[in-house]
Amino acid sequence: MSLPIVRTVADLRAAVAAWRHQGLRVALVPTMGALHEGHLTLVRHGRSMADRVVASVFVNPTQFGPSEDFSRYPRDEAGDAAKLAGAGCDLLFAPTVEAMYPAGFSTSIEVGPVTRRWEGAARPGHFSGVATVVTKLLLQCLPDVACFGEKDYQQLQTIRRLVADLDIPVAIEGVPIVRDADGLALSSRNAYLTPAQRQTALALNRTLHRVVERLRRDPAVVDAAAAEGMAALLAAGFEAVDYLAVVDAASLEPVERIDGPARVLCVARLGGVRLLDNFPV
Ligand code: PAJ
Repeated sequence: MSLPIVRTVADLRAAVAAWRHQGLRVALVPTMGALHEGHLTLVRHGRSMADRVVASVFVNPTQFGPSEDFSRYPRDEAGDAAKLAGAGCDLLFAPTVEAMYPAGFSTSIEVGPVTRRWEGAARPGHFSGVATVVTKLLLQCLPDVACFGEKDYQQLQTIRRLVADLDIPVAIEGVPIVRDADGLALSSRNAYLTPAQRQTALALNRTLHRVVERLRRDPAVVDAAAAEGMAALLAAGFEAVDYLAVVDAASLEPVERIDGPARVLCVARLGGVRLLDNFPV
């Protein structure tokens, strides 16, 4: 069966209102398309939490920097729709850029400290773009639940913060990272890697795993464990490590020792591609 697609907020709201009228619970899974098993796991998670699942596919221009890959970001709506239908999605919301940002659009959401370090520092304006579009998607759809991946851990914490601060009545579900059998976190950007780079990329997951093991044995060696991890990534063939940091799991501020929920966050570069990964400690 082919998946129904709506492109306007009015059509989205009509579909969701009809479900609500029947007393059904609705989940939203926001994406930028080029869907893989990570995204489809979010859809299946949404299914387990609600009666109907809406996925959005919108390559959001405002979260890309001027030198980033907005124009070459992979787009395949027909392929995405088929995958979504197979995963149990009920409706695809695929608005145009003009529908999301009509002439005169001028509001943006700044979430504050949780967005300043890490991806926020590397990509100025990125989280403002994400927060603004996610706020719009939540208010356009008004779902009971919205699902986001831990793959983009800082994004997930940013969205939790904004939903709490703005009293948006939706439950935010964080879903663990989906990996390939060899451990590499699934990402639409993995498609940019050559087969040799794809092999090198495996060091990312292995190194973070080793950092976490070390911190489990000795919660006070945070700086040494991070420095060793960085050196291991460079030795494995990564061109640069943007950051490898051990942070508080909620505030994302660096910690000096492990004495509560923490997260190891890392971005390393290979062939000009920024690969993200993170692990709970
Ligand atoms: P996108 O990169 O398409 O990711 C959509 C959702 O899929 C995000 O919540 C992301 O964390 C999740 N995801 C991606 N790869 C995953 C993996 N390997 N395992 C688990 N979840 C994974 O993130 C965005 O789009 C955008 O910023 C968006 C939130 C849609 C706003 O434009």
